[in-house]
Amino acid sequence: MFHDLTIREVRRETPDSVAISFDVPDALIDAFAWVPGQYLTLRATVDGQDIRRSYSIASLPGKPLTVGVKHVEGGAFSSFAQALTSGQSLQVMPPEGRFTCKTEDRLVLIAAGSGVTPMVAMAADALAREAEVTLIYGNRNTGSIMFREALEGLKDRYVDRFTLIHILSREPQDVALLNGRITGDKIAALARAGAVDLRGADGVFICGPGDMIDDVAAMLEGHGIPKERVHFERFFQAGEVQRAPRSAAAEAAAAHGVTVEVVLDGARKQFTVEAGDDNVVAAAERQGLELPYSCKGGMCCTCRCKVAEGSAEMAVNYSLEPWELEAGFTLACQARPTSDRLVLDFDAA
Ligand code: FES
Repeated sequence: MFHDLTIREVRRETPDSVAISFDVPDALIDAFAWVPGQYLTLRATVDGQDIRRSYSIASLPGKPLTVGVKHVEGGAFSSFAQALTSGQSLQVMPPEGRFTCKTEDRLVLIAAGSGVTPMVAMAADALAREAEVTLIYGNRNTGSIMFREALEGLKDRYVDRFTLIHILSREPQDVALLNGRITGDKIAALARAGAVDLRGADGVFICGPGDMIDDVAAMLEGHGIPKERVHFERFFQAGEVQRAPRSAAAEAAAAHGVTVEVVLDGARKQFTVEAGDDNVVAAAERQGLELPYSCKGGMCCTCRCKVAEGSAEMAVNYSLEPWELEAGFTLACQARPTSDRLVLDFDAA
């Protein structure tokens, strides 16, 4: 699952963020092939604790595999990452994620802070295949703009097809509309001013904190933009996470003890979920079995698997899309069995 990769370069992007590039050995080239928009899960022991975090890939396939890491107040891994240097090695899980462009011709990308990381690769990729791209990017000030050089390079290269709009919250700009934070109202006002064509976009991708995503997504829905054209990836959920209370069925199943079988990399393993186990990942860990996970908060999808037998409910879900729920996918880090036996297939596509 995890592989040791050597850090090729650590480049400071802003005073509180770095871009970390990895060397991928020949034997792992296929395993580490990626599509723009995907992310890596990094793992390290920090102050004696096993910590994993997901970071989006900023580079295009064929270039050095690079992620952007912004320091988060109180964030153990992001603090640790700021001090990494080339030559050190980190445990890295192969690229994952479905926040990827397909064949869209007119893309609108909306990002705040380090949410721009996947957008850098997505914009470069889409522009190279002749698409039109508008990127609306929110930051505190000019100094906190990540991947500024790369974005300016795209602007110079694709003058006619790449529109880059910076929204700054703590550095006044001449145009009032460009001041403040990214909200649904702000994006709608930009559309009214003709700066972005939301109705003409065949893909709107939003990446950043949960409250920004919710606000912008609600505005888009209110303006009749079809849901299937809107895609998002949360970096964190602002405020209190609303976990659904455990249902009577989940309580009863755990009280009896649930046999869980997982299919992972072609192998089958069993363990039990009992009263006191918060979710499937926690129950497996308690019994010494490691399942794929990263955020443990329902946001990253690293623990995504398909319910092949039995049933389960989730405490929260910020990442699975409606079609995945219909197809029977769940998030193991949030899953509570509601049947006496549960089979979860981590290999299901
Ligand atoms: S580990 Fe991130 S959604 Fe489960």
